[in-house]
Amino acid sequence: MSGWKRKDLLGLEELSAEEIEFILTTTASFKEVSTREIKKVPALRGKTIGSLFFEPSTRTRTSFELAAKRLSADIVNFSPSASSLVKGETVLDTGENLEAMKMDCFIVRHSCAGVVDFLAKRLKASFINAGDGSHEHPTQGLLDIFTIKEKKGRIKGLKVTILGDIRHSRVARSNMWGLLKLGARVTLCGPPTLIPPGIESTGARVTYNLKEALKDADAVNVLRIQLERQKENYFPSPREYSRRYQINAETLRWAKPDVLIMHPGPMNRGLEISSEAAECRNSVILTQVENGVAVRMAVLYLLLVGK
Ligand code: CP
Repeated sequence: MSGWKRKDLLGLEELSAEEIEFILTTTASFKEVSTREIKKVPALRGKTIGSLFFEPSTRTRTSFELAAKRLSADIVNFSPSASSLVKGETVLDTGENLEAMKMDCFIVRHSCAGVVDFLAKRLKASFINAGDGSHEHPTQGLLDIFTIKEKKGRIKGLKVTILGDIRHSRVARSNMWGLLKLGARVTLCGPPTLIPPGIESTGARVTYNLKEALKDADAVNVLRIQLERQKENYFPSPREYSRRYQINAETLRWAKPDVLIMHPGPMNRGLEISSEAAECRNSVILTQVENGVAVRMAVLYLLLVGK
């Protein structure tokens, strides 16, 4: 690939395998910057980035801010609850006003799927989807894929299980699209009520049986059970969910000895994953977080300079 062409990063479904590989290669070249004593390069000097999080975040927001600062960009954190949105200003008017202040890029998280795409189509600045409803969370998918590739040396032909609340998970969708495009064999596992009907048409395999999902898996990505959605009763109780689907020392006996244990965070310890499993030697959960900074440096760089 000769260079990056896209204005925005909205999801992995729309990217080609070549584009995903290009981001992963760029990530590898940026990872070293965070190990230096002076963790800074001048690549985005003079660029201004707006960080607009309409939903809570620890990892994504902080690592985007660190990524921007390590590339010498200026980053402005916009707090929706302290903005004129509460006086009735629309999201589009807000975006147009911020763009009028000559911002180059916006990082947006929103509870509604499609909001980032809506803004990206109407404004000239670059947009990065930092998670929109249950749709996509592309930089999380990229950092998960980068971590698997770093640990296993390849993606093609690997068996990756995504476990848990597939229905509500933007992380599951971004992982699934990215992994399938790069030639991995993806298994989706969870209670039938948390797996969207017909999702097999994407090329992913579906099983409701944890033992079957873990057998032969090279990596298992454990999703957070979104307790806030439990009012719809997708499973009888958290205890029943844990009994059938928790990753712990006992269920890991069904997996290969070198299986990677992953979780995008935040974890519900004792629900979808035991503390023992989260902290065992197969766990790469904090490596995922570390790689998140490098992935976000790569994405910011490609959108703002690569084109
Ligand atoms: N994985 C993830 O998106 O975490 P945060 O919600 O803390 O950003």
